[in-house]
Amino acid sequence: MKILVVGGGGREHALCWKLSQSPKVEKILCAPGNGGTAQIGENIPVKDDDIPGLVALAKREAVDLVVAGPELPLVLGLANALAGEHIPCFGPSAYAANLEGSKAFSKNVMAEAGVPTSPFRVFDEYEPAVAFIKEKGAPIVVKADGLAAGKGVVVAATVEEALDAVHDMMVKKSFGSAGKRVVVEETLKGEEASFIAFCDGTHYALLPSSQDHKAVYEGDTGPNTGGMGAYSPAPILPEEKYAETAEMCIRPILRHLAAKGEPFKGILYAGLMYTENGPSVLEYNVRFGDPECQPLLMRLTTDLVDVMLACIDGTLDQIEVTSTPQTACGVVMAAKGYPGSYPKGMAITGLDQADALPGVKVFQAGTRLEDGRVVSSGGRILCVTALGDTLRDAQKRAYEAVEKIHYENSYYRRDIAEKGLKRLG
Ligand code: AMP
Ligand code: GLY
Repeated sequence: MKILVVGGGGREHALCWKLSQSPKVEKILCAPGNGGTAQIGENIPVKDDDIPGLVALAKREAVDLVVAGPELPLVLGLANALAGEHIPCFGPSAYAANLEGSKAFSKNVMAEAGVPTSPFRVFDEYEPAVAFIKEKGAPIVVKADGLAAGKGVVVAATVEEALDAVHDMMVKKSFGSAGKRVVVEETLKGEEASFIAFCDGTHYALLPSSQDHKAVYEGDTGPNTGGMGAYSPAPILPEEKYAETAEMCIRPILRHLAAKGEPFKGILYAGLMYTENGPSVLEYNVRFGDPECQPLLMRLTTDLVDVMLACIDGTLDQIEVTSTPQTACGVVMAAKGYPGSYPKGMAITGLDQADALPGVKVFQAGTRLEDGRVVSSGGRILCVTALGDTLRDAQKRAYEAVEKIHYENSYYRRDIAEKGLKRLG
């Protein structure tokens, strides 16, 4: 098979790496890819939001399967466009991708499907949103409806902060059309975990729980990033709870969308908050998390091509999706300054030495190949991932591998997985 993976981050390197282990795969293309994917297959310079370009590429190369890494192409209708050309695509239709593409759609689906989520209101006009925030008081959460590169959510500690956020979104239009509509919701307190499932429209197959570290600095302080590290499983969501959790947050969504004639096929990612009153869904994503994908795919023991094809064919109930009982931990190595401005073009050394350590895989994110050398090209540069018999073991191995890797202006958190270790006692 020839497979086209869309995207160019650490998640996509992990997808290419796992897919390439399948005996069914002859060639992998990645658009646009990065330094890591270039070492597995061929990078093609088509951007992830260029739907006609991606469809043309898939046709020209006669690919057998397209795998969408990020949400943007899915929200823009990549799966629909490929369906029109009879090219199999792993990832939901544009309608179903609205679970991530529109917070208002997502919250309404949750409410209709009976999924626990914080009470909310949707606003298309500025003045009523202001009045509602003043009435409710702080803390309160303001969310831009559309995709805003992870920056559209403000957990406001004061009414002023919440009003500034709505003003920014609806009047100043800082997020463009993504902020024309806003969701205002109650703040939840607790610990977060990610629960990710393969879905075929009717059935689901669960991946183990995982947890990422969104804040840039140690102790979960500083601004939010795409994720500075992740591990699986998350002690807060142990295996005994998987089945009931899936019945709470995965099954109702599949039923609801199937009943609407828009079955969900692909990855459904529930972002959960464990509050005093139990788990509540913060958000859905329609793709793997980055960096959760890296530890999860390190653990996956089933052929990923088989799982993806079963999702497309609606036969997920006929295969078993299994993961090693080992723990995996991934530490993101970034550029100093990220998520603000940061330097690029640093030459990276020690990748081979790190990869040679037992149970270690270095996934590349913001990198490119330049004259045979790997140089940085983004804020999150690598996700150094390791398997271990325990979380402590996986963490130790990941940091040993991190020590082997060098480049100027390197920054990483030294406390990835500490949250989970604390819970384990
Ligand atoms: P979302 O994209 O909706 O998941 O929001 C991004 C992040 O904002 C989440 O991972 C949480 O850390 C935080 N967040 C979102 N909604 C809430 C809420 N209702 N209460 C507290 N924190 C929230
Ligand atoms: N790591 C969180 C996300 O990918 O949305």
